[in-house]
Amino acid sequence: MAESTMLARRAVPSTDADPDAPMMVAEQLTLRFGGVVALSDVSLRIGRDELVALIGPNGAGKSSLLNVLSGFYRPSAGSVRFNGHDVTRMAVHRIAGAGLARTFQGTHLLPHMSVLDNILVGRYMHMKTGLAAAFAYYPFAHREEVEQRAVAEEILDFLELEHLRHHPVGTLGYGMRKRVDLGRALAMQPRMLLLDEPMAGMNSEEKEDLARFILDIRELHRIPVVLVEHDMGVVMDIADRVVVLNFGCKIADATPAAVQRDPAVIEAYLGGGA
Ligand SMILES: Nc1ncnc2c1ncn2[C@@H]1O[C@H](COP(=O)(O)OP(=O)(O)OP(=O)(O)O)[C@@H](O)[C@H]1O
Ligand SMILES: [Mg+2]
Repeated sequence: MAESTMLARRAVPSTDADPDAPMMVAEQLTLRFGGVVALSDVSLRIGRDELVALIGPNGAGKSSLLNVLSGFYRPSAGSVRFNGHDVTRMAVHRIAGAGLARTFQGTHLLPHMSVLDNILVGRYMHMKTGLAAAFAYYPFAHREEVEQRAVAEEILDFLELEHLRHHPVGTLGYGMRKRVDLGRALAMQPRMLLLDEPMAGMNSEEKEDLARFILDIRELHRIPVVLVEHDMGVVMDIADRVVVLNFGCKIADATPAAVQRDPAVIEAYLGGGA
């Protein structure tokens, strides 16, 4: 794989924070919806190039946690630091602009647009040129457009989607759509990726492909990835660390092997036969 790609531009974070400090630090997060406590006193650290799996039964609070980390939900209590900055009350688009990219449970793609255009949507986050400037300084805007396309093409190539670049996303199978969704997130040249069940509904071959891409992203870009995933085989294969939620509480945070043996996790999630 190429060493210095445009995609890897953000691999070395331009931050004044300590380079060894965790990329993300969540402290004592609580999230309530009326009487429902979706998260209860959850603290979490994510290192600079860690692949962390987030597991737990349905309704445990996994999506809620990703929503709080990325600014979609405001926590009732607690704080989130990302790349050395307090982002707890920051607007979603500013957190995204600071380099936190995510995918959603289900896909949020534009079905009538092509694979390439969907990936370019992720690039708009990087457009320096506003519309007025684009008219006033056309050559500059044009240069930027060329650069956006070059990055999008690189992502198509990396995710082995070149042959589908002009296909409307709505005509693709589920596995390929999820791959395009990952491409859209990558197009933001993120400093960190949050993936909410990207493999749900995939067959085992599609899961293997996506797991390989996730490992490649980590390898090539050296960015941390948080992956919500129910398939324990995948989790055990690729995660450095596993965080387990149950009824909004963090009940384990350890290596895959240790989590698999943890009686509280077996009781809550893995079942007696695990
Ligand atoms: N916007 C919301 N309004 C009200 N309650 C919510 C909202 N989002 C989540 N919840 C509740 O918070 C709890 C945690 O939900 P969450 O979606 O985070 O779980 P999850 O672990 O992602 O589950 P799944 O595995 O089914 O995706 C659930 O009781 C859910 O009903
Ligand atoms: Mg969820």
